Amino acid sequence: MSASAVLGTTETKHPSHIIDDQGAVTDIVLDAMSRAPNPRLREVMAAFVRHMHAFAREVRLTEDEFELGIDVLNRIGQATNDTHNEGILFSDAIGFSTLVCLLNNGQNGATETAAALLGPFWRMNSPETENGGSIIRSETPGPALFADCRITDPGGQPLADVEVDVWQASPVGLYENQDPAQAEMNLRGKFRTDADGRIRFRSVKPAGYPVPTDGPVGDLLRAQERHPYRPAHLHFLAYKPGFKTLITQVFVDDDQHLESDVVFGVTRHLIGDFQEGTGTAPARDVSAPWYRLNYAFVMEKGEAKLPIPPIR
Ligand SMILES: [Fe+2]
Repeated sequence: MSASAVLGTTETKHPSHIIDDQGAVTDIVLDAMSRAPNPRLREVMAAFVRHMHAFAREVRLTEDEFELGIDVLNRIGQATNDTHNEGILFSDAIGFSTLVCLLNNGQNGATETAAALLGPFWRMNSPETENGGSIIRSETPGPALFADCRITDPGGQPLADVEVDVWQASPVGLYENQDPAQAEMNLRGKFRTDADGRIRFRSVKPAGYPVPTDGPVGDLLRAQERHPYRPAHLHFLAYKPGFKTLITQVFVDDDQHLESDVVFGVTRHLIGDFQEGTGTAPARDVSAPWYRLNYAFVMEKGEAKLPIPPIR
C-alpha cells in the first residue's frame, strides 16, 4: 500500500513535478491542483488552467505580451475603488459578463431571457419610493419619462410585493455618483409591485454614455478602434423570495448606439418602446416632448439573492 493510500489521499499521476519541457507543464499543474477538497473549485480551476495554457500555445504568447498582460491585470486592480469597478468593465468590454448572464438565465441559456448585466453603478439602499412617485431628487433637465412596468411569473400571473430597484443615468449621461450637480441618489429608487404586479414612476429620459476610458479598458478600446458608448437605458433589479433575482436593463429604442453597445448588453427582448407622449401630459409641470414606457418583465422561479454591490 502506498503512502498516499495510507493517508487516505488520491494517488497522483505525477509523483515528481519536475518539468521536462513545455508540453509537460499543463498536466503537472493539473496534478498539483487535483486534490482540492472542494469539487467545484477543482473543476473550475482545472478548466481555467487548461484553457489558459491552450491560449498561450495557440497565440505563441511572447514574453513581452505576457508582461503586458500582467501589467493590464495589475492596472485593472489599481483603477478599481469604491466608486469605480474596472474589473467588471473589462469583463463587460470583452462580452464575458453578457455570456455569463445568458448562460445563467432563460432556462440556463436555452431561451431568450429578460436578464441583462448588473453594470458597475448599482448601489444598495436606494430610497424607498411610493408607487407613482418620482426618482428625480434634484433639478434634472431633460424630457420627462413616465414608466409603467408589470412583473409576472412565467405563466403570466402578476407578481405582487416584488421589490424593484431602478437606477439610470441622467439626460447628460452621468449617474449621480459621477456627477456633483446631482443630489445623492438622484434617479435611483426602490419600488414595490402592487396587486397587479405593477410599478409606476416618473423620471427623465436617460441618455447614452461612454464607459470610463481613462484606464486599461479605454486603452484596449482605442487599440481596437471601438467607440466607448452604451445606448441609453434604465436599470432594474427585481427581488422576491422564491424567484430568481431579475437583473436587467431596458434600452431606449431611438438611441444611435443601440446596434453597437460597447459592452454587448442589448438583446432584442430588452429594447423598450419609448413612446413620445401626445395630448395632456400626466403632470402639470411637464412640457413636450415627454415619453411613456410600458414594459413587462417575467421572473423565473429560483433563488432570490442580491449581488455584491460593485460600488458603495
Ligand atoms: Fe448603466
